[in-house]
Amino acid sequence: MRQLRDSSPGEYRFGTATTVAGVNDVLAAVQAVLPSVRADLEDLIRIESVWADPARRVEVVRSAEAVAGLLTAAGFPDVEVVAAGGAPAVIARYPAPPGAPTVLLYAHHDVQPEGDPAQWISPPFEPTEKDGRLYGRGSADDKAGIACHLAAMRAFGGHPPVGVTVFVEGEEESGSPTLRALLTAHREALAADVIVIADSGNWSTELPALTVSLRGLADCVVEVSTLEKGLHSGIWGGVVPDALAVLVRLLASLHDDDGNVAIAGLYEPPAATDLDIPGEQVRAEAGLLPGVTQVGSGTVPQRLWHKPSITVIGIDTTGVDAASNTLIPSARAKISLRVAPGGDPAAHLAALRAHLESHAPWGARVRVVDGEVGAPYAIDATGPVYDAARAATESAWGVAPVDMGMGGSIPFIAEFAAAFPDATILVTGPEDPASAAHSINESLDLGVLEKAAGTEALLLAALAPACG
Ligand code: BES
Ligand code: MN
Repeated sequence: MRQLRDSSPGEYRFGTATTVAGVNDVLAAVQAVLPSVRADLEDLIRIESVWADPARRVEVVRSAEAVAGLLTAAGFPDVEVVAAGGAPAVIARYPAPPGAPTVLLYAHHDVQPEGDPAQWISPPFEPTEKDGRLYGRGSADDKAGIACHLAAMRAFGGHPPVGVTVFVEGEEESGSPTLRALLTAHREALAADVIVIADSGNWSTELPALTVSLRGLADCVVEVSTLEKGLHSGIWGGVVPDALAVLVRLLASLHDDDGNVAIAGLYEPPAATDLDIPGEQVRAEAGLLPGVTQVGSGTVPQRLWHKPSITVIGIDTTGVDAASNTLIPSARAKISLRVAPGGDPAAHLAALRAHLESHAPWGARVRVVDGEVGAPYAIDATGPVYDAARAATESAWGVAPVDMGMGGSIPFIAEFAAAFPDATILVTGPEDPASAAHSINESLDLGVLEKAAGTEALLLAALAPACG
């Protein structure tokens, strides 16, 4: 079971799928199972597995059961739905043939809330194909990850040449609060030589990527107060400050005039990529309105992958419809900070707190309530498993992958790394820049689904011990 780690790159022998015939057989097998995989993906999209919505937690239970059923039917002899006080997760195991390593395939079956259904081109939980893309909440993030794992298993007729453990979590979009407990409770079942996290994406639908870094997260709620009670804005306005005026000034202090984060003490690693994204592409993919400029300095990848960013993600105050001529006595905002790889999220949260406590005007009272922190991750993407992954990707896509960072966060990667320090972690996935994860009209490119599934199946074949 330890042979991958123990063999030096020189000794490592690739498996059968590296011959041209082997590669083509595996890709043909993936192609053959794809229609059934797609149908199952569509059924999963129909389940509204929004763990963040208490009313729909029962749907998350239903989706765990559906995933367990699909994995059982795909040939896993040992499938269980497990929980550690949080959302149900699924663990499916196919034991390693003698001498073969075990590969853990991760995905999550919970999804983000759908937002305003009226803004979708099709109902969010009704899978709909348009121009080669499958639309629906979770179509990409991350039910497509589950689809890739199903495709890989089915391509081998339920008998892959390595041990395969599929782990499908149900609360990733809520910050994986019980993942550590699950890893502890099921340590033996989840132990693996290689961990494939299929929850990321590619440079484009034509150019694959391996994700080599992700940002971390820190968030907090800041509340500002200026008055004991609301007051008539004509009787007192211009003499005493209202809390909303304080809050908007405080929030404005988080950025400098160029849109760079203006908090002292945040970590910024040196830039490490030659890649860039043209301004027009950013405008098109992000939906930037005409005349609105980008913020921050540096190349786009530098800003997204190697710098912190800060976003006000919610405000509680009097709504416009309820507004009256009143000085608002207190107001609060939730602030989310992305942490560059190498940064310490707890230290970043402390820096954010210090900034908020020292930048409110007019002596206003400021109270900061710390929220969640999530670790960033930078991967050493070298060694025999990475060589095999790059070869598998190139065979499935017809072009070698680029290494890319991601601005998003998968904090539990650090927890996997701590729990299984000897395992090689690969971060891959079926998304592309048009997937619009977390946004309206989330979609999956069906060509990428086939290529991502093909890559995964080829990787399993390549990790099998070479015969002869
Ligand atoms: N799949 C994303 C992370 C991601 C985003 C990877 C973009 C690659 C590109 C994941 O589901 C996610 O959204 N994570 C949250 C983390 C949080 C809830 C702790 C995020 O990044 O906000
Ligand atoms: Mn995800």
